Amino acid sequence: MHHTGSNAKMLRKLNCQLAMCVLLCTVQFLLPASSADPMYECKLEKRQDETVCVFHNVRYFANTTGVTFTAPVSKVQHIAFEDSTLEIFPPELLNSFKDLRSLNVVSTNLSSVVIPAKLERLYASNNRISRVIVHQTRDSTTLQELMLDSNQLRDISNLTRLAKLETLNLSGNRDLPVDDTIDLGQFKGLDSLKYLLLTDIGMNYFENEHNVSLPSLTMLDLSSNNLLTSSLEVKVFEPLQSLEILRIAYNRITDLDVLNLTKGNPNLKTIYLQGSHFQCDHQRLILEHLKKANVETPVDKNQSPCLLGFETQDDMCCKSVAPGILPITTTTLKNNYHPTSSSVPVVPAVPTADPTAPTVAKSDDGKSVGPTVMLSNSCMLTAVTVATITKLILF
Ligand SMILES: *[C@@H]1O[C@H](CO)[C@@H](O)[C@H](O)[C@H]1NC(C)=O
Ligand SMILES: *[C@@H]1O[C@H](CO)[C@@H](O)[C@H](O)[C@H]1NC(C)=O
Ligand SMILES: *[C@@H]1O[C@H](CO)[C@@H](O)[C@H](O)[C@H]1NC(C)=O
Ligand SMILES: *[C@@H]1O[C@H](CO)[C@@H](O)[C@H](O)[C@H]1NC(C)=O
Ligand SMILES: *[C@@H]1O[C@H](CO)[C@@H](O)[C@H](O)[C@H]1NC(C)=O
Ligand SMILES: *[C@@H]1O[C@H](CO)[C@@H](O)[C@H](O)[C@H]1NC(C)=O
Repeated sequence: MHHTGSNAKMLRKLNCQLAMCVLLCTVQFLLPASSADPMYECKLEKRQDETVCVFHNVRYFANTTGVTFTAPVSKVQHIAFEDSTLEIFPPELLNSFKDLRSLNVVSTNLSSVVIPAKLERLYASNNRISRVIVHQTRDSTTLQELMLDSNQLRDISNLTRLAKLETLNLSGNRDLPVDDTIDLGQFKGLDSLKYLLLTDIGMNYFENEHNVSLPSLTMLDLSSNNLLTSSLEVKVFEPLQSLEILRIAYNRITDLDVLNLTKGNPNLKTIYLQGSHFQCDHQRLILEHLKKANVETPVDKNQSPCLLGFETQDDMCCKSVAPGILPITTTTLKNNYHPTSSSVPVVPAVPTADPTAPTVAKSDDGKSVGPTVMLSNSCMLTAVTVATITKLILF
């Protein structure tokens, strides 16, 4: 008796479960297929000695809703998106993966990015990022490596709380300079920063108005900008007392105060100078001093041939001063050069009419002093025209 009673109960329960199941299945079946929420599952793949869960072919737009991101295993810590378009940063991602250590969203067309708590590395190069939302506080921060090169950043103040950050690549963010200027004050607070890359951002001026020290900075890369001698004063580097490697190749500097540089930055070991606009004899003096101060000056031997008017000396292109060729005197403009004060701050090389004129005046310490010329606004146009023609002749 007892037995049959419990059997009946069990049968009722089973029936009920079956009915529920049928009901659920029917509901699911009746739902239109088009409204099925997209679900993406990543695949575990090897990327540089690390197992990363990779999402392929994800399309995520501002109007996308109800997406689920999943992984074949639990506790995934490294995620990458490949061949994907993420118009906005998917909030669902952070709900699904609460333990992320690295995230790769390179070339996904993102316009903003989120740095979640616990993240240690973010690779977000080559997007349209102008906003970075940081879910880490100065006390809880874990981020060590941040690749934001080739984006559209203007304001990086959200990054300065990343006190553990060691590598920051902001190269190719051509909206970053303010009045064509980068001031090291923008990086104040990044006390662990070792490597700062600011190549190809279109800056004319590099300043350090408040003597910000960045105590851990060992490598600073300012290559491929428009720095000119008059706008690059070596005293900006002096507060960077850990600086060992300075890259200023491919700018337009015609002189460098290497005496004060090596004095002010005694830990400097290497400086990259290739692609500068030094006169050849002057370049030799600079290299000789650096050699004496035990500072290496490596060059990339795969550089393209020297431009017209330049020749090779010590594996670097420098401005020729061969007899018979019209010597080019570089005009170092000292027009109280604050970038906001003038729309055309510096005029490059203007050829001297007199071919016998000395090309570079030397002060007694062997440092070149270009003639200082003050240009009023009215003659600026003429000067620019001359400079443009000169440039056409030179390049
Ligand atoms: C969502 O936006 C994308 C691109 O902006 C567009 O191609 C797509 O048609 C939109 N989808 C819906 C359902 O509106
Ligand atoms: C990136 O996004 C912009 C703006 O939404 C759009 O115009 C552009 O076509 C997108 N590019 C790619 C490659 O998806
Ligand atoms: C900075 O962060 C705040 C909040 O986290 C965000 O609203 C803002 O858009 C961010 N700004 C930039 C320029 O990244
Ligand atoms: C920094 O970004 C530039 C531009 O995308 C790239 O060429 C360079 O390799 C990057 N450097 C590092 C150390 O990540
Ligand atoms: C920065 O240091 C220089 C000396 O190198 C000093 O003349 C200047 O007053 C300092 N500026 C500030 C804001 O501390
Ligand atoms: C080094 O810098 C100081 C102060 O800026 C300056 O007075 C001095 O002339 C410089 N020395 C050389 C050798 O240029």
